[in-house]
Amino acid sequence: MILPSLAHRDRDAREWMDDPGCDRETLDRTYSQFRVVNALVAGWHATYRRHLRPVLPRDRPATVLDIGCGGGDVARNLIRWARRDGFSLQVTAIDPDPRALAWARRRPPVPELTFRPALSRELVDEGRSFDLVISNHLLHHLDEQQFPALLADSQQLARVRAVHSDIRRERWGYLLFSAGTRPFFRRSFIREDGLISIRRSYTVPELRAAVPPTWRVAPQRPSRALLIHDPDPR
Ligand SMILES: C[S@@+](CC[C@H](N)C(=O)[O-])C[C@H]1O[C@@H](n2cnc3c(N)ncnc32)[C@H](O)[C@@H]1O
Repeated sequence: MILPSLAHRDRDAREWMDDPGCDRETLDRTYSQFRVVNALVAGWHATYRRHLRPVLPRDRPATVLDIGCGGGDVARNLIRWARRDGFSLQVTAIDPDPRALAWARRRPPVPELTFRPALSRELVDEGRSFDLVISNHLLHHLDEQQFPALLADSQQLARVRAVHSDIRRERWGYLLFSAGTRPFFRRSFIREDGLISIRRSYTVPELRAAVPPTWRVAPQRPSRALLIHDPDPR
């Protein structure tokens, strides 16, 4: 395998799944395999325990917005973990791609989970707000205008906390993902898009330079970073 230079973000690399004309069967298989990849590498149980559970209300359901939800498995897991811990979540999961929502809606319904085709801006324009705003593997998809716009929207939409989780660009992460996914995930975009995602993703210093001062950047293992925002107490 030729290791590409990871010295700079590869803003021009395009993921297969972002191509409106990509093969639908392969795309659906990719959504279905997100569950496995997220469980293995995305660290959401740790994120839930450290950054979401401590701020959940006990006396009422917490509202959550998942931006760029894809197949919706992160939302489903959060609902399940919270329920097990005696909390209740009401999750609105949005994605602008109708193919993702069509796949997500074919899975068994969960009463606490609503899918909606939308961008975060539309919810801001409607004056909506949520206790928590989250995303997974969304930041590296965004261009130079969309990235700060997402953070600004999150600040407006999140009453308690916003947490965006993504891959961070690292050599060993690239090598491990490449080697670990090669034998599996053959008929999906997981491996190719995963490697492109790493090339498109940020390093921790790049994130620190890119976010407004009210956002924290928390490195997370393996090869991940969280962007966290807590509104000022009013
Ligand atoms: C790599 S997938 C991750 C899906 C899901 N969050 C997960 O972790 O399984 C990225 C998703 O972000 C969505 N997306 C791309 N650009 C977006 C934007 N500007 N706002 C919201 N979602 C976006 C895509 O449609 C896609 O479903």
